[in-house]
Amino acid sequence: MSAITDIAAVRAWLGEARRIAVLTGAGMSAESGVPTFRDAQTGLWAKFRPEELATEAAFRANPTRVWDWYASRRDLMKAVHPNAGHLALAQFQQRYPGRLTLITQNVDGLHQAAGSVDTLALHGNIGDDIWLDPCQGAPGRAGVCEVTRAQPGRPPACADCGNLLRPGVVWFGEMLPAVALAAAEDAAQTCDLMLVVGTSGAVWPAAGLAHTARHNGARVVVVNPEPSELDGVAHALLRATAASALPALLADEITDTR
Ligand code: OAD
Repeated sequence: MSAITDIAAVRAWLGEARRIAVLTGAGMSAESGVPTFRDAQTGLWAKFRPEELATEAAFRANPTRVWDWYASRRDLMKAVHPNAGHLALAQFQQRYPGRLTLITQNVDGLHQAAGSVDTLALHGNIGDDIWLDPCQGAPGRAGVCEVTRAQPGRPPACADCGNLLRPGVVWFGEMLPAVALAAAEDAAQTCDLMLVVGTSGAVWPAAGLAHTARHNGARVVVVNPEPSELDGVAHALLRATAASALPALLADEITDTR
């Protein structure tokens, strides 16, 4: 079990690490005001049934309901800002270029807003629209559905073929974006240290990245105020929030002992 619990020890590991991977989940953005999914009181999946909102079948059955739910989440995202944890990660990347790969399950765009580079968004981005199906074209001409020509509606539809726009997030049962997942797996295999921040570890394949890192010899550090399914993988557990632990870990110059 994970014995190390103090920031100074983990900072020494950061100094030794040539390659650092960071895997973040909803807890990363909790202090920005974005609800998590599995918190018993405030989590989205405590209030809503994921199978009615976060699957392709749910969207096809009731596109307006699903579109409106994501629209309300998009409105919330417009009003939130990166917290001190997001900023600490982005500033570390700027101070040590190429050393830290950021992998997130979050769709809120807050890492990108904080200035993080090359964020691997495994579950997509809630601000993006994508087409539900391949374009069928208009009668007599092959077409490509164009977002700029979408007919306003909930959801908007292709003017030619009726195809629907949907949010650009990964729903249950869907494949993760292949390029981002491959890059994340590579980072997990080659890192010397992985920080796992604010995730329950309940959703795969994202959670598997921590196992991959450990299996390949990396030190694994879990940052989470509550127990998670990845605690058993960790060499160190920091029972703290993202916005308090990450600045303490990353803000000052680390002693580089690579
Ligand atoms: P969860 O809601 O499952 O877990 C959030 C975790 O954050 C919990 O372990 C909390 O203890 C922790 N937490 C809460 N506040 C925190 C804070 N201030 N600092 C650090 N940690 C904190 O969210 P995820 O693990 O991200 O999928 O869930 C994974 C996926 O399940 C999501 O990406 C989403 C969801 O269905 C898709 O949207 C495809």
